[in-house]
Amino acid sequence: MGKTALVTGATSGIGYALTQLLAADGYDLILVSRNEEKMRSIKDALPERSVAIIQKDLSKQGAAKEVFDEVKQDGRSVNVLINNAGFGLVGAFDSLDTDLQNEMIQLNVTALTNLTSYFLPELKQHAGKILNVASTAAYQPGPFMAVYFATKAYVLSFSEALAEELSGSGVSVTVLCPGPTHTNFGAVAHAEDIKMFSKTMDVNRVAQIGYQAMIKGRRVAIPGNINHAGVIAAKVLPRSWGAKAVRFVTGEKKK
Ligand SMILES: NC(=O)c1ccc[n+]([C@@H]2O[C@H](COP(=O)([O-])OP(=O)(O)OC[C@H]3O[C@@H](n4cnc5c(N)ncnc54)[C@H](OP(=O)(O)O)[C@@H]3O)[C@@H](O)[C@H]2O)c1
Repeated sequence: MGKTALVTGATSGIGYALTQLLAADGYDLILVSRNEEKMRSIKDALPERSVAIIQKDLSKQGAAKEVFDEVKQDGRSVNVLINNAGFGLVGAFDSLDTDLQNEMIQLNVTALTNLTSYFLPELKQHAGKILNVASTAAYQPGPFMAVYFATKAYVLSFSEALAEELSGSGVSVTVLCPGPTHTNFGAVAHAEDIKMFSKTMDVNRVAQIGYQAMIKGRRVAIPGNINHAGVIAAKVLPRSWGAKAVRFVTGEKKK
């Protein structure tokens, strides 16, 4: 039996780029996202691979269990789990819709945690790999994207803890922490006209760095020198300075 990778948020951006790398490396795929039509076209473009599609809104309670049940009903098992689906929202905390913020937490945090929980037993059997997509946002507080930054701090902490917990088990956990990247993220988050998105990294480069780190079993991957420098600064400077620096790029429009 070939190796199978499950990718959430496979229809666009970093997730889509990761599916192409996985397919080129011979993985069969299980694609999970809301847009069935886009997943069908990805499947049709990869006739040499077995590609299963699970249409699911992962921001809904119980969605991760439904995904796991569908994979099992299909008789499949997973060697690689990529928790990539996520979205952000730009705006003052009290101006953003509470239900939408809950959906963000459910998708970025709960679905990622629960999918990891359901698939971990079989990943242990296969010496499998987990790739969680966090962000450089994980390293400091993020005014005007407060909940998003907090969800990514969770993903980083959870992933690093699990990587240590699983050392010696054969399962590797890698967390990818991109900075601003050219995908649909900016449009979904209403972030396109803020300073933070003045310069973005190429999505294929970001995916390649995350993919290589996952294959090598590295714990953390931060694409790009500028993002690296930002993370080092966030680690050494007071967190209140980090918050002010983020406010400068999230709270102000591009010139
Ligand atoms: N782009 C950046 O600047 C950046 C920087 C750091 C971290 N990240 C992280 O990278 C990850 C991928 O984002 P991206 O930049 O590639 O953005 P993107 O182009 O908007 O892709 C997001 C993917 O997530 C899926 N998705 C969104 N909501 C979903 C839901 N409720 N249920 C299931 N799937 C859902 C979307 O598919 P459907 O619409 O078909 O559901 C899409 O495939 C996210 O976790 C994001 O936080 C992005």
